[in-house]
Amino acid sequence: MSKKTDILLTREVRLAITALESAPGEANNFAANPPPNGVIPVVTLNVRMAGRVNADTGMLVNIKHIDQIVRRVAAPAMADMLRPDIRSIGPGLLLTELFQRCGAALVPYEINDLTLHVSPWMYFQANGGELPMIRMAQRFEFSAAHRLHNPDFSPEKNLELFGKCNNPNGHGHNYELEVLVGGQPDPHSGQILPLAQFQRLINEHIIDVFDHKHLNLDCPEFAALNPTVENIAQIIFSKLQGVFPAHVKLLAIKVWETPKTCCEVRAY
Ligand code: NI
Repeated sequence: MSKKTDILLTREVRLAITALESAPGEANNFAANPPPNGVIPVVTLNVRMAGRVNADTGMLVNIKHIDQIVRRVAAPAMADMLRPDIRSIGPGLLLTELFQRCGAALVPYEINDLTLHVSPWMYFQANGGELPMIRMAQRFEFSAAHRLHNPDFSPEKNLELFGKCNNPNGHGHNYELEVLVGGQPDPHSGQILPLAQFQRLINEHIIDVFDHKHLNLDCPEFAALNPTVENIAQIIFSKLQGVFPAHVKLLAIKVWETPKTCCEVRAY
């Protein structure tokens, strides 16, 4: 994706993971396909295609074509994960395989990246130029209080600049944190990093440090630093430097202060 005329088109394919075959005509693409008749896992695959628009059709690639290919390749692979006689290859290796097989089946069209959402809080992403590295992101939460204030400014200027956020006794947020890492999936587990270890590292270095704290008063990081979402994101990013095993690279973090406000710090 370097040519100026290239565009990106993303198609989301929703897949219910079931060993049962869907009867023709029963598809429900809005919920999932095959239809999730019962309590069964549903994953989404976001296929981002790169290329040029065909002058005759006005399309980069027909989305029906993407759906057909992805379902044909991914549905059996997902169903295999439910079979007790087949060892699960894990999400990292599964995605690598899906990227390669969908990519081959979609030629001459080019997949820019493929993202597998295994839950609303975790996704894996394969980028053509990065393989065999796979990206993995997870969301975490912490609640904290803060006060936006600059002691060098007058009370009037602080109030004008920060408004209600300058309240002397602070106010709270339920922060969401997304941590994006990259690495080569383990050949046995298919994981970039054991998930328990991932959570333990984030808990130890971030959540336990900031959760249920008043950032200005309890956390030395913000004793002389205004705890805006921008500064919180930068502090979190710096605290996560060097905490992962050598084969895992910290790629980016995102902090949502509210659903409408998010700050991202990228290493790439
Ligand atoms: Ni605030």
